[in-house]
Amino acid sequence: MLSSAWLLVTVLLSSSYCVAAPGPKSITAGQSISLQRRTPSARSVEDWAAWAQNEREFLTNRYGGTVSKKKRSEGSNLLTNQNADSSFYGSLAIGTPPVSFDVILDTGSADLWVADVSCTVDCSRVAVFDATSSSSFKNLSQPFSITYGSGEAAGSLGQDVVQMAGFSVSNQVFATVDQVSSGLLTSPVSGLLGLGWQTISSSGYAPLWQTLVSSGAWTDPLMSFQLTRFINASNVQANEPGGTFTMGFVNSSLYTGSIDYQDLVATPSFWLLSLTSMTVQGTSITIPTGSSAYAAIDTGTTLVGGPSSAIQNIYAQIPGSQAGTGSWTGYYSYPCDTQVNVAISFGGPSWSVSPADFQLTQISSSDCIGSFFELSSGSGAPSWVVGDTFLKNVYSVFRYNPAAVGFAQLSETALAMNGVNGDPPSATIGSVQATATAGVSGSSNSANKWSVNAGAIIAALVPVIGGVLL
Ligand SMILES: *[C@@H]1O[C@H](CO)[C@@H](O)[C@H](O)[C@H]1NC(C)=O
Ligand SMILES: *[C@@H]1O[C@H](CO)[C@@H](O)[C@H](O)[C@H]1NC(C)=O
Ligand SMILES: *[C@@H]1O[C@H](CO)[C@@H](O)[C@H](O)[C@H]1NC(C)=O
Repeated sequence: MLSSAWLLVTVLLSSSYCVAAPGPKSITAGQSISLQRRTPSARSVEDWAAWAQNEREFLTNRYGGTVSKKKRSEGSNLLTNQNADSSFYGSLAIGTPPVSFDVILDTGSADLWVADVSCTVDCSRVAVFDATSSSSFKNLSQPFSITYGSGEAAGSLGQDVVQMAGFSVSNQVFATVDQVSSGLLTSPVSGLLGLGWQTISSSGYAPLWQTLVSSGAWTDPLMSFQLTRFINASNVQANEPGGTFTMGFVNSSLYTGSIDYQDLVATPSFWLLSLTSMTVQGTSITIPTGSSAYAAIDTGTTLVGGPSSAIQNIYAQIPGSQAGTGSWTGYYSYPCDTQVNVAISFGGPSWSVSPADFQLTQISSSDCIGSFFELSSGSGAPSWVVGDTFLKNVYSVFRYNPAAVGFAQLSETALAMNGVNGDPPSATIGSVQATATAGVSGSSNSANKWSVNAGAIIAALVPVIGGVLL
């Protein structure tokens, strides 16, 4: 529940920093190609060759292939790993002039929101959005609220220029939030960028990524993550280098081999795959099938939650494990000196979770808590939420068209970033190389509210620091 201490004090905070960024250019990408019908006999061989190439590029762009010669755009955003893998945030900028904000990147929800200047409780020490300082802000005067697994945020909807990784959307709908439940924002994070599909957005409006990809702004219709691991590193600082988020391309320096894509199992909402098999210490365990195997691939969730029976079957393979009690209800303890090897398949290759990621935290001289927990999901919500515990072990790709999630092995270059202390990247939005215009249609999506409630367990389960369940 939200803290009852809201709105008791009014302290104006000014936005803590600005980014000098070039203003948006005119549209350089995403123009549609109109094909004109001509009589084949009028064509020379050269004509045919040009047509064939054009056609191939058009279809390739449309269907997400890789042989495109048409220059569209791609961008990267460097991430920060917060509190030993509890959450991963990137940066974007809002308004005219642009002001930068650190936001959790969350593939498990689909709304963008940032703390508003009028947010006083639990918004201290974070950059806040001040609409009066942006000449391009439009207030939609519609209320907004969203409930995550670990808290709630509420405020109102507005429209402004939003820039990220070199892309710009001129009229992106987002929420300015004046009510945030305690613990949802950890400084310097100001808000959250939902990277799930519009169908689960609380506002009903198209999320930033979908506006960009559907307008054709991206070279390839996909985005990707490489997430660092600090959970087992020494001298971990609150904020460490977190890896890379890309829009419009995959960075081949960060993975090896091929990317195995699995189509989404249902109409796009969450990034939902079927979790088809799992091994623990090399032994196959029984897991639910059908829609009970649906798993949301969620960068905004720290751990992996699944159906009780499956979680019980995991720990049944680990001698000395025990169901947790009290604030650890739903979790399991196991002997810390056991190296637990879990591997998961979504229909393709089996992907290993490192024993380091399985070991969430130590609770006694001999016992540790595992990162896989029993998720009590509401009806219709995904049975599994597969978060960073898993995603740190792979390069992950979220593809718009055909709608799919892909995984690949991390490269040596990517692995070499794990546990290497350093300054977190400074906020950057890149030079603007492509712009897009958001659709203005939107409707309040209350029918989907359940799924947001149950599934978008953002940075939520952060018992890593201090063992406190939020
Ligand atoms: C937008 O208007 C609503 C009232 O309709 C107001 O409550 C809210 O504070 C305004 N938002 C901003 C960012 O000024
Ligand atoms: C790809 O990742 C490597 C390693 O982090 C980085 O040096 C390079 O700049 C990235 N490439 C692009 C195009 O972002
Ligand atoms: C942390 O875990 C990873 C994956 O299991 C391992 O490769 C690495 O050596 C570990 N680091 C430390 C400092 O133990």
